[in-house]
Amino acid sequence: MKNTIFLILAILFTLTSCETAKKETTPSKTYIEEPHSYAQPNDAVITHLDLDIDVDFESQIISGTATYDIENSGASQIILDSKFLEIENVTANGESTTFELGKFDEALGQPLTIQIQEDTNQIAVSYKTTAKTEALQWLNAQQTADKTNPFLFTQGQAILTRTWIPIQDSPQIRITYDATVKVPLELMAVMSAENPKEKNENGVYNFKMKQRIPAYLIALAVGDIEYKAISNRTGVYAERSMLDKVHTEFSDMEKMVVAAEDLYGDYDWDQFDVIVLPPSFPFGGMENPRLTFATPTVIAGDKSLTSLVAHELAHSWSGNLVTNATWNDFWLNEGFTVYFEIRIMEALYGKERANMLALIGRQDLEDELEALKESPNDTKLKLDLKGRNPDDGMNSVAYDKGYLFLRTLEETVGREEMDAFLKSYFKKNAFSTTNTEDFITYLNENLLDKNGITFNTEEWIYQPGVPANAAVIESDAFSNVEKTLETFLATNKINTSITQNWTPQEWVHFIRNFPEDISIAQMQQLDDTFNLTTSTNSYITMVWYEQSILNGYHGNKVDSKIADFLNTVGRRWYVTTLFNAFAKAERKEEALAIYKTARPNYHSVTANTVDQLLGL
Ligand code: BES
Ligand code: ZN
Repeated sequence: MKNTIFLILAILFTLTSCETAKKETTPSKTYIEEPHSYAQPNDAVITHLDLDIDVDFESQIISGTATYDIENSGASQIILDSKFLEIENVTANGESTTFELGKFDEALGQPLTIQIQEDTNQIAVSYKTTAKTEALQWLNAQQTADKTNPFLFTQGQAILTRTWIPIQDSPQIRITYDATVKVPLELMAVMSAENPKEKNENGVYNFKMKQRIPAYLIALAVGDIEYKAISNRTGVYAERSMLDKVHTEFSDMEKMVVAAEDLYGDYDWDQFDVIVLPPSFPFGGMENPRLTFATPTVIAGDKSLTSLVAHELAHSWSGNLVTNATWNDFWLNEGFTVYFEIRIMEALYGKERANMLALIGRQDLEDELEALKESPNDTKLKLDLKGRNPDDGMNSVAYDKGYLFLRTLEETVGREEMDAFLKSYFKKNAFSTTNTEDFITYLNENLLDKNGITFNTEEWIYQPGVPANAAVIESDAFSNVEKTLETFLATNKINTSITQNWTPQEWVHFIRNFPEDISIAQMQQLDDTFNLTTSTNSYITMVWYEQSILNGYHGNKVDSKIADFLNTVGRRWYVTTLFNAFAKAERKEEALAIYKTARPNYHSVTANTVDQLLGL
C-alpha cells in the first residue's frame, strides 16, 4: 500500500515536473493553422536566418547555406518549405542529420523535414536553386536600361521565397536575418535590409535585417545600380541612365514618410528606399522592407504615378508591421494599404487627387466584380484559398473593396475616430500578425461598441459583392471628364482648352469610359489630336491600347506599339489587361503571336497568369 502511494506520488511528480519543463521551452507564440505552408511552427520554429550565398550569373544558380536559429519545444523534427530546390546537406547543432523531401505539390512545393534533437537550437541547409526556381528572374543585358550588364531580382510574395531559400514560408512566422551575398564585381547587391550605397572591390556584400519580418519580405536585387539620396532616410537605387530621372520623380518621398507618420505613427524601419528595376518586374511595386521594388513604368516625368510609392510606403504599417496571418486575410494587407495610400496622397496633393484615385479604384472594383460574376466567393474580403495557389485568389477585391469598406467606415464614424482607431491598431499589432476575426473583435471593442455604432462589418467581410451602404465617391474633375466625353461623342468636337490641363488620371478616366460603339474615326481623331498612341505615360498608353484592341483601331501604328509594349513590360496588371482585351475582342491569334516572343521576357508570376488567361 505504502509503496503504491509512493509510486503514484512519484509518477505525479515526474508528470508535473515534465509539464513545467515543457512550458519553459514552448514557443512564446501560438500559430494558427494555415493552408499554404508545411511548417509546424508550434513544434519548432525559425527565429533568425543567416544566409550565405553565391550568385552565379553564368549558370543562373544561387547556391549556399541557410543557417537558422530555431525555437524548439522538444520536437524531433522541424519542417521547412521548399520548391524546386536542390538540397545538398543538412546539419543540426553543427552535426550532420537526416532530412527528407516530401511529396511535391504544384503550388506549395515540398516539405523539407529535418531530424532534430530536443536540444537542437540551430540547423543549417546547404542548397542550390534550379532552372525552375520561380522567385528569381535572371535578365540579360538587353533586358536592362543600360544594356551592358545582367540583372537579377527576386519576388517572394505570396509563396515564392521557398523557391530560392528553404524556409518556413508562412506570413505568421517572423525572423531577423543576416546575409552574405557574393556577386560579380561589376554588380552591386541590395536586399530588404540595411544596404550598401556603393559597389565594393570584392563583390561580397553583408546585410543585416534587425526587424523581424515574414519570409515573403526577404528580397534581393543584383545589378549595375547606383544610389542617390533624397533625405537622410530616403533615396533611390537605379541603373545609371535612369538615376537622375528616378530621383526627380520620387523627390517627394521624404514628405510622404512624414505625412504617413503624422497619420499612423512612427516609421519603424529606419530607412525607406526605392529601387527601380528593369521593365519585366511583374508588379507595380513590392513593399520589401527598407527597400521597395518598383517598375520603371511609373517614371512618367511628371510625378503623376507616384501614388505607387505612397502605396508601398503605407505597407510599412499595413502588411510589414501588421501582417496578414494567412493569405485568406490578404485584404488586411492590401485594403488597409490602399486606404492609407490615398490618405497620404490627400495629405500631399489634396482631396481632388485623392478622390480621383479612389474613383479609379471604384471602377476597377466594378470591372473585377463583373469578371468574377461566376465565382462570387472570390469577391469576399475574407477568402478561402485552401487547395489553391494564393496568387489565383488575389484580385482587386482585396484592394478596392477593402478600401471601400474602410472609407465607408470612416464616413460612418468620422475621420478623427477612424484615425485614432487605426493608429492604435497598428501599435497594438506591431511586428506581429493578425487575421480577419481578430480584426473584427478589435474593431468592435475599440471603435464601434465604444461609440455605440452599428455597422454591417460581417456583410462587408463575409458576403460577396458591395453592400448598399458603400460610400459614394465624387470628383468634380471626373464629372467634367465625363461631360467632355459625352459632348465629343455627340458632336465630334473636343475643346482642347478643357483637356489642356488634364492630369493622366483624367485621361485614363476619359479613355476607359469610351462606349462600345465609339467609331474608328473618333478614335483616330482623338489620337491625331492628343497623340495617345505615343503618350509617354504608361498608364495612359495601357488603357489606350486596351481600347484600341477592343475596338479594332489600327491607326498611327498602334499595333506595333502594343507588340513592343508587351515585349518589354512585364507588369502583370498591364500585361493581363491587354491580353484580356485580345481575348475579349476574339483576336487570340494576334495575342498568341505576340506572346510567343514576349513570354521569355516575363517573370514566372506574369507568365503563369497569362498562360492561364490564354488557356495554354
Ligand atoms: N504587395 C503588392 C504586390 C503583390 C501582391 C505581390 C500579391 C504578390 C502578390 C504590392 O503592394 C501592390 O499592391 N502592388 C500594386 C501597386 C499598387 C499601387 C496597387 C501593383 O503591383 O500593381
Ligand atoms: Zn500593395
